[in-house]
Amino acid sequence: MSTENLDTAKANLPVRGFLNIKDLIIPQGEDLVKAILDLKKEKNAVILAHYYQPAAIQDIADYLGDSLQLARAAKDTDADMIAFCGVHFMAEAAKILNPTKKVVLPDTQAGCSLADGCSGEGLRAMRAKHPNALIATYINCNAETKAESDIIVTSSNAETIIRSLPEDRPVIFAPDKNLGKYLMKKTGRDMILWDGSCIVHEAFSMERIAQQMADHPHAKLIAHPESETPVLDLAHFVGSTSALLNFVEKDDAQEFIVATEEGILHEMQKRAPHKKLMPALVFDESCNCSECFYMKRNTLEKLYLCMKYELPEITMDEELRLKALKPIEAMLELSTTIK
Ligand code: 13P
Ligand code: SF4
Repeated sequence: MSTENLDTAKANLPVRGFLNIKDLIIPQGEDLVKAILDLKKEKNAVILAHYYQPAAIQDIADYLGDSLQLARAAKDTDADMIAFCGVHFMAEAAKILNPTKKVVLPDTQAGCSLADGCSGEGLRAMRAKHPNALIATYINCNAETKAESDIIVTSSNAETIIRSLPEDRPVIFAPDKNLGKYLMKKTGRDMILWDGSCIVHEAFSMERIAQQMADHPHAKLIAHPESETPVLDLAHFVGSTSALLNFVEKDDAQEFIVATEEGILHEMQKRAPHKKLMPALVFDESCNCSECFYMKRNTLEKLYLCMKYELPEITMDEELRLKALKPIEAMLELSTTIK
């Protein structure tokens, strides 16, 4: 663990000055895993993890899923504490759906470029400009933004939900313009798009991927719809995180170039151990840009600390929670056929 990460972990501790020095010693290796499992039992906690989490966290999770699956798991759990290993908006959604549970997140700085770029105030201004429009918002947004929305979507249910919206109303889609453009093409529905994007999915280079495909002529390119249009146009298959996983598992191809966050390759390789998986190439050869830097802020050490001290905890004003719950519930009602 880097010093920077360890310091952030310790900074998340409660009354730091009153702690015994022993409390700052974090178990290592197998002892750390055992300590987390012990805390889970002691506190009747459940560990939910997104597919983009570091592999060590994925391996220890009770439930691994995409954002829709994790929202459902959070809603349905009867554990007392949800240790949410994902980014902030996902942990917030868990709290919105299951407010009586304590929701902790290993690192509060696990944000998201999409969520950071779209505020509730921004959506209110857009509604004022298009008063008759329905606002469909990607789940990658904060509670205030959700509260201003008519319906929430995730990458796995977005197409179904957009198709279900009344034809006689204009639709504002926020915050991901790439997903929005993809949905417009797929459904034929014109939408007013918020100008936001994911820093990870925008890092893929069409030119370098084209070369990668030429170098691996039997490989299929698969892409998450947060990627830019030229990459999606080049892809053999476009789908949500779960759809990409299922595709790799079931498709006849033996090689895949994967244009989404690299963490997914861990579960993909488990499900398709004999297939060759390659992360799609990004513009900047010198950076790990296909890794979501926010998702990777969480570490086993920080998971241990957040479970031990039950901090940092996600809390929310009840009025805001109820407003944000409405569009999430609308989404869940329309997603019953989606796994
Ligand atoms: P999913 O909805 O597929 O889980 O994706 C979440 C996300 O952050 C994609 O970048
Ligand atoms: Fe947000 Fe992109 Fe990271 Fe997903 S991969 S959490 S959309 S920054």
